[in-house]
Amino acid sequence: MIERTLWHPVALSHVVGTQPRAATLLGEDLVLWRDDSGQAHALADQCPHRGARLSMGRVAGGQLECPYHGWRFEGGGRCTHIPAVPGFQPGPRHGAHAFDTREAYGMLWVRLAAPEGAPGPIHDLPAFAAESEPRLRKTTSGPYVVQASAPRIIENFLDMAHFGYVHEGWLGSRDRPEIAPYQVAATPHGVKATGCLAWQPRASVHSTSVAQVDYTYEVTAPYMAVLTKQPEPGTTAIDGLRESIAMFICPVTEESSVAWTRMAMNDFDSPDARLIDFQNTIFGQDQPVLESQRPKKLPLAPDAEAHSAADRMSSAYRRFLKDSGIRWGVIA
Ligand code: FES
Ligand code: FE
Repeated sequence: MIERTLWHPVALSHVVGTQPRAATLLGEDLVLWRDDSGQAHALADQCPHRGARLSMGRVAGGQLECPYHGWRFEGGGRCTHIPAVPGFQPGPRHGAHAFDTREAYGMLWVRLAAPEGAPGPIHDLPAFAAESEPRLRKTTSGPYVVQASAPRIIENFLDMAHFGYVHEGWLGSRDRPEIAPYQVAATPHGVKATGCLAWQPRASVHSTSVAQVDYTYEVTAPYMAVLTKQPEPGTTAIDGLRESIAMFICPVTEESSVAWTRMAMNDFDSPDARLIDFQNTIFGQDQPVLESQRPKKLPLAPDAEAHSAADRMSSAYRRFLKDSGIRWGVIA
């Protein structure tokens, strides 16, 4: 399954520590923890001995200790100690299954299977890279626990025609619902829409008046998208406001997800809470609609749902998922 070879975000980096925590990715239960050197690990959350949840255990001496009989595991999954038989040297059969982890963009990422050939890079998101964009301040909102499939959440993130209804008075107005034609193009890793114009009463925490906002949307991986929004000059408290928002999603089950938004903007003054509050408000408006959608899995057949010309980006996203062989969270 191709989804298993992709990197997925599973937790904010700073919440993963020496207290083991549970997460679920693509239906797989994981235990996340850090060893004494600060290295983060993800193991199957099922002890190879009698199946107890390792996330109920503790980290001791830089190793994960099972809550049931105290077997100890290294970050790579090797079992080092069986307290009931202290002289015994555990072998590979006593080990826990370990998954690849990476840390980037303030998150811990896991992939469940290594792809064939060269290891895949983690998603390249230039606006969010600490090194390449030190002039942009990064903040993350979430986790949002959503009873919706990851593709439904991404598609909503790419959708402008709901602004005037779901986000009335914020990102749109029902008096100005029209979506002007915009351009959609395939990219090496997904799809991109440019020239997406929205009339927004309150486009961000920095808005000082209604504004025409120019959006660029980019799907960078099957369950990931980034938008960049540029309000017309003179409508924000910050001159030349630059703002990118990435939607990070952990596909938990086929019909439920955990989402975060990662913001990158040239604002170093607003308190985190203010920026996060705004995102919480917007996502809180989206969530009930997302959870109401049926079917919960995104139908990829072109005639499965009705479309309008305003939905070109969503149609392109569905085609991309189909062409990528994605099965999780979709009706292929
Ligand atoms: Fe984990 Fe026995 S179930 S040590
Ligand atoms: Fe929305």
